[in-house]
Amino acid sequence: TQSKPTMLSALRLTSKRSFSVAAVNPYKVAVLGAAGGIGQPLSLLLKLNHKVTDLRLYDIKNAKGVATDLSHIPTNSTVKGYTPDQPDALRDALKDTDVVLIPAGVPRKPGMTRDDLFNINAGIVSGLAQNIGEFAPQAAICVISNPVNSTVPIVAQELKKLGCYNPKKLFGVTTLDSIRASRFISEIKETDPTKEAVNVIGGHSGITIIPILSQQKEMPKTITKEQKDALIHRIQFGGDEVVKAKDGAGSATLSMAFAGAKFADAVMSGLNNEKDVIVSSFVDSPIFKDQGIDFFASKITLGPQGVQKIHEYGQLSPEENEMLEKCKETLKKNIEKGVNFVK
Ligand code: NAD
Ligand code: LMR
Repeated sequence: TQSKPTMLSALRLTSKRSFSVAAVNPYKVAVLGAAGGIGQPLSLLLKLNHKVTDLRLYDIKNAKGVATDLSHIPTNSTVKGYTPDQPDALRDALKDTDVVLIPAGVPRKPGMTRDDLFNINAGIVSGLAQNIGEFAPQAAICVISNPVNSTVPIVAQELKKLGCYNPKKLFGVTTLDSIRASRFISEIKETDPTKEAVNVIGGHSGITIIPILSQQKEMPKTITKEQKDALIHRIQFGGDEVVKAKDGAGSATLSMAFAGAKFADAVMSGLNNEKDVIVSSFVDSPIFKDQGIDFFASKITLGPQGVQKIHEYGQLSPEENEMLEKCKETLKKNIEKGVNFVK
C-alpha cells in the first residue's frame, strides 16, 4: 500500500510516484498577508502539503507574483493570487475555504512590544475578520498577526457582531512558543529537539508565555536554578531575540512560517478526523472564564469541528503559579483592549 504523502515527501520530486500521488484530503486554504515575510515561506510550505488542493493568496501587494511563482511547483494544488485592485478579491480568496491563516500586519522593530503593534494591526485584522465572517464563516481561522492576545478577541468580536462566531474554529497561533521551547530545552538536555515537548500555556507575549518546566520528566539533575530561569526567559522572550538580531528588518518569519504550516497541518488533520491531534493554541477557553479571561492558550485536541477538547494545564510548581497570576493580569487587559476596539 502507498504510504500517506507528507509535507516533506512533497520535496522528493525525482520519483515518479511523487507526481502521481492523489490528494488525500482536499482542503481549500487561504493566506491573508501572503506576500509578507511570513506569508511567502508559509505559502511555500502549504504548497508542499498534499492536504492542500486549493491555495488562495491574498495581500494588498504582490500576491499575484507570489502565487505565480509557487504555481510552478509540481504538487497537487492550484495557487491563485488576489489583490484589492481585482473586484471582489477577498470574496474570491475566501469563498468555501476550510482554513484561513492571517499573517497580515506590521512586525516589531527593536525596542517595541507586541502591544505597540496594536494601533495598526487591530484595524487590519478587524477588516479581514469582517470579510471572513461574510464570505467564509465556516472556515477555521488561524490568527498569526500580533498582538495575538488582542487580535484573537478582535476576530471573535467581529464575528459575534455578524452572528457567525464559532469558538471552536478560532485559533491564536502560539506554535512558535512550543517549537522554541522544544528547541531550547533540547540544547540544555542535549537531546533530539523533535522528541522534546514542553507544555506552554497562557498567551503569546513575554510574561504571558508560561512554559511548565516542572512537568518535564527528565531534566538533568545538574541544572541550576539560574539555568532554569534563563531557559524560561529565553522561551518567553525568544521573539525579542530574533527582533534584536534582525536589527530593524522585522521579526521571526521563517521559524514562524514553519510553525504556521505545522499548525495548519494539524487543523487539517483534525478536520479529517485523524485521532489524537493535540497542539497548543490560544482559544476561547473555559479555564479562567469565571475570572473574566475568555481566551487562554493550552493544549487542545483538534477534530472535524475544530476544537474538540481543551485540556487542563495540570500541576504547577509554586513559582509557576506565581507566573500564572501575573500572566492572567496582563492577559485580561490585552483581551479587553481587543474587545473594546471592536465595541
Ligand atoms: P511583513 O510586513 O513582512 O508582512 C506583512 C504582510 O501583510 C505584508 O505583505 C503586507 O502587505 C500585508 N498586509 C498589510 N495589510 C494587509 C491587509 N489589510 N490585507 C492583507 N495583507 C495585508 O510582516 P511579517 O514579518 O510577515 O509579520 C506579520 C505579522 O505576524 C506581524 O504582526 C508579526 O508581529 C506577526 N508574527 C506573529 C508571530 C506569532 O507567533 N503569532 C510570529 C511572528 C510574527
Ligand atoms: C515571535 O514570537 O517571534 C513573534 O510574536 C514576533 C515578535 O514580535 O516577537
